[in-house]
Amino acid sequence: MAVQEKTTVRRAVCPGSFDPITNGHLDIIERASRLYDVVHIAVLINKSKQGLFTVEERIQMIEEVSAGYGNVVVESHHGLLVDYCRDRGIPAIVKGLRAVSDFDYELQMAQMNIGLSGVETLFVPTSPTYSFLSSSLVKEVAAYGGDVSHLVPALVHRRLVARIAERK
Ligand code: PNS
Repeated sequence: MAVQEKTTVRRAVCPGSFDPITNGHLDIIERASRLYDVVHIAVLINKSKQGLFTVEERIQMIEEVSAGYGNVVVESHHGLLVDYCRDRGIPAIVKGLRAVSDFDYELQMAQMNIGLSGVETLFVPTSPTYSFLSSSLVKEVAAYGGDVSHLVPALVHRRLVARIAERK
């Protein structure tokens, strides 16, 4: 039987706080950008969390480091991720799984999201190089003067060091 080829744009979203984007995030975004026509990066606004960077600063850094992929759109969103997906016709959420410890919460969210709206979640195993990496740890290590230059893109590193120096 002949397979009917579809011509619709295939979209996925990589959601997160991205405060700031790390090499671990970027690895997942790059891999998603090879699998989908358009990858949306949704910077979720959490008003109860004071970030190190403003949402606008996070978006600007993500745009700069992902520009080379050519199919990445970066936006902020306040509210449910499934509403962001519905408004843009996005059927899939792509998430990196670092370790088993991520799994319980990620599974819970994935099951909630598919139950709410039918949006699927696809888990991508992170590169072992970044299995320990999180934005929170990067900020903590950098705040105490540790070297995190190999864990974030160079322009993010410069802005991280500058922001920490301003806050001292
Ligand atoms: O980078 P983070 O903070 O681990 O990302 C978590 C995030 C933002 C992806 C998650 O909290 C989320 O999807 N928030 C949006 C609000 C929402 O849809 N909540 C219900 C999740 S089932």
